[in-house]
Amino acid sequence: MYYVFFVGTAGSGKTTMVKEFQDYLLDQEMDASIVNMDPAVESLPYVPDFDVRDYIDSRDVMQRFGLGPNSSLIVSIDLLLTKATEIKSDLGNIESNYVLVDTPGQIELFAYRDSGRTFSSLLVGDNKSVNVFLMDSFLAKESRSYVSLLLLSSSVRFRLGTPQVNVLSKTDLLSKEELERVTSWGEGENLLDSLGTIDDYSFELVRTLMESLEVPPLPVSSQTRQGFDELYALIQRILAGGEDFE
Ligand code: GTP
Repeated sequence: MYYVFFVGTAGSGKTTMVKEFQDYLLDQEMDASIVNMDPAVESLPYVPDFDVRDYIDSRDVMQRFGLGPNSSLIVSIDLLLTKATEIKSDLGNIESNYVLVDTPGQIELFAYRDSGRTFSSLLVGDNKSVNVFLMDSFLAKESRSYVSLLLLSSSVRFRLGTPQVNVLSKTDLLSKEELERVTSWGEGENLLDSLGTIDDYSFELVRTLMESLEVPPLPVSSQTRQGFDELYALIQRILAGGEDFE
């Protein structure tokens, strides 16, 4: 069994991609289940096979502890960890080869807090996992935001310590010129020029960051399924060493 976590800033397209990627796998006769890890989400475009909302009521957490939505999410994940035995047992009912995990938009859960890593480990157990980090094209088309998103991706990767694939989400919203420009940045071209004047610290930071990229961010669109074949191949290479998941 392989776990694929979809992680990214709020609204970067995680939920939509989880749904579309499941449909894409099912179309190719591969079985894929979905885990919803967001206790506060109100409606979902898919039917989750495992849903944290069955274990925690985030509205109740907000009221009981007098919290706002962000801190309520953090407390909810902590409370979920107290139900680890029950969760572990229920997860045993999932039998598909692929488990797609839709995560909350509060990315600090994965970038800065141990509870995100602990809960992910609870889900994954002895199985292998990979993170798909969504860089929202709407933000990434601006060079400074592009760098910031890569730094955030690095934080998540460092914090979780699992293999990670960067994707540029919603590329159907970019013009041909914008897409070409952003793609060229990932290939190590033109990014420093696009940043304009930057101080020595930032120059070195960007240079090291780009050198550390194993694979350029992959352009994908959940609307057109652009990049889905490449994303599948990349995930497969990381998780199964190129073997099919069937
Ligand atoms: P949070 O859970 O709130 O963090 O959001 P999310 O990351 O799950 O994003 P979601 O899938 O809810 O998408 C946010 C918005 O972007 C929705 O209006 C989607 O319809 C839209 N969207 C997602 N993916 C795409 C895409 O590939 N192309 C286009 N054009 N819109 C998209």
